[in-house]
Amino acid sequence: MPWKGRHFLSLADLSKEDMCSLMQRASHFLDAGDRYEPDSPLAEKIIANLFMENSTRTRCSFTIATKRLGGGSVDLLGGTSSASKGETLVDTAMNLEAMGVAGIVVRCAEERGPWDIAEHVGVPVINAGSGTTGHPTQALLDAVTLTRHFGKDSLSGEHIAIVGDIAHSRVAKSNVIGLTKLGANVTLVGPAELLPSDVDCETSTDFDSVLENVSVVMMLRVQFERDAKVGEDYRDRFGLTDNRFANFRGAILHPGPMNRGLEIDDNVANVESSPHNLILSQVTSGVATRMAILEHLIG
Ligand code: CP
Repeated sequence: MPWKGRHFLSLADLSKEDMCSLMQRASHFLDAGDRYEPDSPLAEKIIANLFMENSTRTRCSFTIATKRLGGGSVDLLGGTSSASKGETLVDTAMNLEAMGVAGIVVRCAEERGPWDIAEHVGVPVINAGSGTTGHPTQALLDAVTLTRHFGKDSLSGEHIAIVGDIAHSRVAKSNVIGLTKLGANVTLVGPAELLPSDVDCETSTDFDSVLENVSVVMMLRVQFERDAKVGEDYRDRFGLTDNRFANFRGAILHPGPMNRGLEIDDNVANVESSPHNLILSQVTSGVATRMAILEHLIG
C-alpha cells in the first residue's frame, strides 16, 4: 500500500494506484462475505463516529466495519451532543481524542470541518461527508461497486452520468475526482441552476441525449434540506422514469437516501427492476470499503 496519508479527507490526496490498493482490499473483504477479520487489526481500539448530520448508511457501515475488524465504536450524534450548548466541532473532536479513541469519523455541515479537526488532533480523521464539498468514502465505495460490476480494475472506456442536484452534492464532487482518476468520462447533468460552474467536468442540461451514450447513471437526491429549488417539470426532465429506464441497459447507482417518484421512479428504484440496479450493492460495498480504510489508517 503506497499511500502514506495519516487522514482520509479527500480523494484528491490519493493517486490512482492508492485508490486501487484500497479497492482491492475492499474487494477481498467483499469476497470474504460477512466474516469477522481473523487478525482483528482494530483489537482494543475504539473509533469515534462523530455525526453532526443525520446518516443511515455511512454511520452504520462504519460501525459494522469497525466491529468486523475487531474494534469497538462510540457514536456521538449532533442532536444529543454538547454542540447544542455551543461547543465547537474541533473542541468536540479534541474531547473525544482525550478519551482515547484511535480515530475519528466525522460528518458535519462545515465545508472544512474534517480538515479543521485534522489540524488539531493526533489521531486519524476520516471524512464521512463535509457540507457540500466531499464524501470521499462514498466515492471510493462507488468505484468498488462499478469496477466489480464491470469486472475490471479501472473505469477507462466507461461514460458515467451523474444526474440531479449537483450543486448541493458532496457525493458528486468526490465522484468527479475518483471516477476520472480511474479513467472514466464523467458528465454532470441537471437544471442549469443546480450545475455549479466551479467543478472541472463536462455538464449538460439534456438528460435524454446524455443517457443515449452512457454506461452508468448515478441519480442524486434533490437536497430540499439545503434549500434546493426545482420546478414542477423536474421529474420529466431529470428523473430516471419508467420510460427512460425501458430503453436503458447500463448500470444504475444512487447513493441514497432516495426521493422515490422524483429523481427515480418507484419501480426503477427497486433492485429487482434490473440486474444492473446496483443501489444495494453500493451499500454492501460500503462496509468493505470502510473496512479497508480503517484497517489501513488505524489497524
Ligand atoms: N450515502 C450516504 O451518505 O447516506 P447516509 O446519509 O444515509 O449516510
